[in-house]
Amino acid sequence: MGDPDLSAPAPAWWQTGVLYQIYPRSFADSDGDGVGDLRGIAQRLDYVAGLGVDAIWLSPIYPSPMADFGYDIADYTDVDPLFGTLDDLDALVADAHARGLRVILDLVPNHSSDDHPWFAEARASRDNPRRDWYIWHDGRGDGRPPNNWESLFGGPAWEWDEATGQFYLHLFSRKQPDLNWRNPGVRTAMYDVMRFWLDRGIDGFRIDVLWLLVKDEAFGDNPPLKPRAEGELEVGRYEMPAFEDLPETREIAREMRAISDEYDDRVLIGEIYLPLERLVAYYGEQLDGIQLPFNFGLVTTPRLAAESIRAIVDAYEAALPEGAWPNWVLGNHDVPRIATRIGPERARLAQMLLLTLRGTPTVYYGDELGMPDVKIPPELVVDPAAAGGRSRDGARTPMQWDAGPNAGFAHEGAQPWLPLAPDFAERNVAAELADPRSPLALFRTLLRVRDEHAPLVLGSYRSLDIEGGGLFAFVREQDGERVLVALNFGRDASVADLGAAGAAGSIVCATGLDREGRVDLARLPLGAGEGLVVRVD
Ligand code: NOJ
Repeated sequence: MGDPDLSAPAPAWWQTGVLYQIYPRSFADSDGDGVGDLRGIAQRLDYVAGLGVDAIWLSPIYPSPMADFGYDIADYTDVDPLFGTLDDLDALVADAHARGLRVILDLVPNHSSDDHPWFAEARASRDNPRRDWYIWHDGRGDGRPPNNWESLFGGPAWEWDEATGQFYLHLFSRKQPDLNWRNPGVRTAMYDVMRFWLDRGIDGFRIDVLWLLVKDEAFGDNPPLKPRAEGELEVGRYEMPAFEDLPETREIAREMRAISDEYDDRVLIGEIYLPLERLVAYYGEQLDGIQLPFNFGLVTTPRLAAESIRAIVDAYEAALPEGAWPNWVLGNHDVPRIATRIGPERARLAQMLLLTLRGTPTVYYGDELGMPDVKIPPELVVDPAAAGGRSRDGARTPMQWDAGPNAGFAHEGAQPWLPLAPDFAERNVAAELADPRSPLALFRTLLRVRDEHAPLVLGSYRSLDIEGGGLFAFVREQDGERVLVALNFGRDASVADLGAAGAAGSIVCATGLDREGRVDLARLPLGAGEGLVVRVD
């Protein structure tokens, strides 16, 4: 906050840029098997680059039995044939780089697949040298697991291994045994995996469940769940102090950063669901942790209303360590889509919020079209997490490219792995590109406006006090240039006094089409669900 420090180094690409998450199974299928692939993504790169985003993050593309759709990895240094080959990935990276797009891969260090050769060795016998690469424990007798730890997908986190007479730990499905990060060999192997990809020109990693990596050696029970604080996950019946955010985990974040810093210009992003004060610790005391601990404040809040959003943003800004760079997320492949959470109109406001707040935004594929979740009939549900009562399939359906067969996602006659949205004939890239009122048109305008108004990227942030409810407004400022963002999340139209931002200004972007020109900030009318970006005089 405050004025930017002119002696500070030039901002990195991941500070000025916008990240775009691609769920590879669902983006574009080039070979007609109903599952998206790397060549499909490559064929759609012009669209992605044309959005004005700066990097793509690919959810896992590694060899996998797909028990958790790629988050169960059987080989960390190859590509699953379903997605293509290493050559396809190299080609995609080259094509992306040629368009000025960086490529971020998913690193899944907490667990492998039970099909990984490491696990085959570990379960072969108790004295196998690889045994200790995973987490094994005796039961409490009578077939009872070692403790009450629960899988985040529901049910016990322990699976009995008949052959060796012990339980192994899996914080996700039983097909995803947890690696033992207390074992130095695991650390070295995973750091080598990082180097393998960084050497190939990958621009960074999104690190899966970073906050759960190390487990308490006492293996004691977790206590029952307390009411949730903002930012905390609500999963299962227990708190997770035995494996959540252990000091050793933060140390690993620093070690990973040291690996990534062996290379120029790379970035580490961490999946971390923790309350603010603990989340920001992942920047590292000397900013030697990861650069972007994902900030899920806007995802986990039960209500995206003006007051709660202001509270989230202000608290986050205040909690950030000196020099730490903020980031924002509205959705991902694990949660219901923003358009479903708050409705299509509010989703437009939320996009405006995401792309104008201070910090790096991450956009989930399809959200730029306003895609809602698709209702998946029970017999078509494939998500392993559905066993615990939360299927994520609805947020992972095929990208909607056009009104043709399979929405342009896959060839005619192919059977997409998840059903298409019923409204794809109207809600698709081709239709929305042609419609100036579409969510996509708004998204593209917002990215252009970011480019044209420097304060929106690097400027300071200050929220405004506003009489009456429903409105969230803030000012971004840099080098004497000031931009106001006013968002009416309320149910009623209002006339707001935003004079604290300045006397008057010109609209540079509006969620509705018919607003443009000059505005008096002391009396600014805003329709219900309307948002404006105003360049203040
Ligand atoms: C978080 C990922 O985002 C989610 O999709 C996955 O199921 C779990 N981690 C396990 O890897």
